[in-house]
Amino acid sequence: MKLSTWKTLLSLVSITTLTSAQLTGKVGPTTSTASKQATICNVLNYGGSVGSSVRYRTCNGSAFTNCVLKHKGSTLYVPPGNYGMQTWQTLTGASQWALQMDGVITRESTTGGHMIVVENANDFEFFSSNSAGAIQGNGYQCRNAGPRLIRIITSTNWSLHDLILVDSPEFHLIVQEGSNGEVYNLAIRGTNLGGSDGVDISGVNHWVHDVEVTNRDECVTIKSPASNILVERIWCNQSGGSAIGSMGAGTAIENILYRNVYTNGGNQIFMIKSWGGDGYLRNVLLQNFIARGTAYGLDVNQYWSGQTQVAGNGVQINNVTFQNWSATNKATNKCESSFGTGSCLRGGTPTSFAVTTTSIGMPSGFTNPPSLSGDLSQGFATNSPIPIPTIPTTFYPGLPQISPLAKNK
Ligand SMILES: *[C@@H]1O[C@H](CO)[C@@H](O)[C@H](O)[C@H]1NC(C)=O
Ligand SMILES: *[C@@H]1O[C@H](CO)[C@@H](O)[C@H](O)[C@H]1NC(C)=O
Ligand SMILES: *[C@@H]1O[C@H](CO)[C@@H](O)[C@H](O)[C@H]1NC(C)=O
Ligand SMILES: *[C@@H]1O[C@H](CO)[C@@H](O)[C@H](O)[C@H]1NC(C)=O
Ligand SMILES: *[C@@H]1O[C@H](CO)[C@@H](O)[C@H](O)[C@H]1NC(C)=O
Repeated sequence: MKLSTWKTLLSLVSITTLTSAQLTGKVGPTTSTASKQATICNVLNYGGSVGSSVRYRTCNGSAFTNCVLKHKGSTLYVPPGNYGMQTWQTLTGASQWALQMDGVITRESTTGGHMIVVENANDFEFFSSNSAGAIQGNGYQCRNAGPRLIRIITSTNWSLHDLILVDSPEFHLIVQEGSNGEVYNLAIRGTNLGGSDGVDISGVNHWVHDVEVTNRDECVTIKSPASNILVERIWCNQSGGSAIGSMGAGTAIENILYRNVYTNGGNQIFMIKSWGGDGYLRNVLLQNFIARGTAYGLDVNQYWSGQTQVAGNGVQINNVTFQNWSATNKATNKCESSFGTGSCLRGGTPTSFAVTTTSIGMPSGFTNPPSLSGDLSQGFATNSPIPIPTIPTTFYPGLPQISPLAKNK
């Protein structure tokens, strides 16, 4: 069912405003990758010992503390090979540096928290040069009872790219506030169960593009506070779909653009979720979505039972536009206990909470949207290892990736 005419839910915006750039300025590191190679801090020279097997090494924070923090313009280098990680690292306060992870790091402890936290970084790049750097979380060994993989906290002018994140016990990548971040060329492969979020992001002026997520929870989701965030060329491969939320007290989310999002299988295509709370969500455009075989389409739910009710009169939602959605779903507009303008919403004073349901007919000449080769027909099991994939080069039918993989440069 094509939702091309189902353009607005809450209020109308004119088409001319829709193409305006979402980002307010430059994203990514301010200096080049080369400028960060004056000093190479190789983990193998900083306590990262070669174990009994030459292919198996350990990683700890020594290279960061004793090298990166002492040399501006340095790269913390994890060479190709297999590493075990037992203690989680918080890499805080460095500037003009890179974390080049060309090896595969495997989780070796069930301690909670995050395996790698990068905090208060400025002019920072986290990447693999061979597009094969990975973290294997082996979450099947401690499902929802172990660490998350990566968290980037209040950092500015940074990028994270060409990495593979597999089977986190909990969420895979969290971006907590900060500004001017660019996240791209990622393959994230979680299990077919809730709690396996792909990318959760908040902050100001971030760009997320060319990301594939396989899981059964959030694909690429925006959390409060957030403004000027552009999310595009996303492939949700059997996931829970992308979302905004859950929103709670003091929500502040505005100027959000998702475009060219492909969702195969999974739950809904997109969800906006809250229960109680206050604040606002406004100026959101969800444009050019293709979906095949998802259970639901768009779900704006302000009684979201997946979260505990938060005190407050509810988050005010304004100026949200859905444009050019094409899916194999049957489309029905259903409004329940909701008031406003657009879609099947009723204006006026909330006096009655009856459900209104309208079926949307299939536009003439409609054909099912294209698929991507490599779509999953089912998710990964919760109780057995998940193999490490390679990073795809296409994330939306008919569009190339925006930046080539690092290994192809
Ligand atoms: C890293 O490991 C080496 C070798 O086991 C050890 O000497 C060093 O103290 C460790 N450093 C940190 C920060 O844990
Ligand atoms: C981040 O980069 C911008 C230029 O793109 C610069 O104006 C700003 O000062 C940088 N932030 C910090 C903390 O250096
Ligand atoms: C509505 O949101 C769009 C972005 O999606 C923005 O360009 C436009 O200015 C907003 N309209 C109003 C009236 O705020
Ligand atoms: C709608 O989306 C399709 C598929 O991505 C694209 O080919 C088409 O150009 C879009 N139409 C408009 C009007 O943006
Ligand atoms: C998406 O599914 C295909 C088909 O099974 C698989 O080859 C691909 O690796 C999946 N993507 C990820 C990121 O797991």
